[in-house]
Amino acid sequence: MADLILETRNLTKEFKGFTAVNNVNLKVERGHIHALIGPNGAGKTTCFNLLTKFLTPTSGQIFFNGKDITGARPAQIARMGVIRSFQISAVFPHMSVLENVRIGLQRQLGTSFHFWQSSASLERLDERALQLLAEVGLEGFATTMTADLPYGRKRALEIATTLAMEPELMLLDEPTQGMGHEDVHRVTELIKKVSAGRTILMVEHNMNVVSGICDRISVLQRGALLAEGSYAEVSRNPQVMEAYMGTSATELQGAQG
Ligand SMILES: Nc1ncnc2c1ncn2[C@@H]1O[C@H](COP(=O)(O)OP(=O)(O)OP(=O)(O)O)[C@@H](O)[C@H]1O
Ligand SMILES: [Mg+2]
Repeated sequence: MADLILETRNLTKEFKGFTAVNNVNLKVERGHIHALIGPNGAGKTTCFNLLTKFLTPTSGQIFFNGKDITGARPAQIARMGVIRSFQISAVFPHMSVLENVRIGLQRQLGTSFHFWQSSASLERLDERALQLLAEVGLEGFATTMTADLPYGRKRALEIATTLAMEPELMLLDEPTQGMGHEDVHRVTELIKKVSAGRTILMVEHNMNVVSGICDRISVLQRGALLAEGSYAEVSRNPQVMEAYMGTSATELQGAQG
């Protein structure tokens, strides 16, 4: 039996009669990098919104570490270790890179914030923040104003602020979106690196990224789960190939080699 960190049972979300997520049974294995793929409008982001409780499901259940979290609130989910990194960069542009990570650390501490006001503990906070920056390759950018960071580095910072929250399960919505070749490569390597000892569920359109680092792939189409398996399995699935007809079909094939 697989060790499931996350499971949905018949997860469904309707918007005024339109079914955006339709009876989805998603199973994410602990330690995996799991990709959620599918054409535009397939329901991937809605799925993420359900998992992080930004949306309430119309029906169905969500289990995290075997516990039913369907009724939990967003903050509770975060405290349990389910942390989402945003599709749109969620860092403060007019603060330094280090300050952004520090805020992430303080947020993780929640109500014990006051504990960190002594100078000794502030030092420890900085130490941990620098450690996280090093982990994502930003040690040389600590004092840089976040707005001045190149795009790809901003995504790395976002990952650092997510790591500050001590995620057990990290949700990444299109982490390489809008990036050039080099940044895609760097962020892909970074995701692979930070996946050690964690589980990652990511929405990703770049099939090179998916085939390169993902252990398992779930394919959504019109809100429903179309296929699930390794990249080799799903990419040769006729239904998946049909769903990706057009430019993406070539993408799917191209990433196979
Ligand atoms: N709040 C909402 N109200 C009504 N319809 C919505 C709402 N949110 C999403 N939808 C619809 O649900 C469907 C799924 O949208 P979703 O954003 O989850 O797709 P996606 O797979 O993330 O697409 P993309 O690859 O473009 O990001 C779309 O048809 C969208 O228009
Ligand atoms: Mg989306």
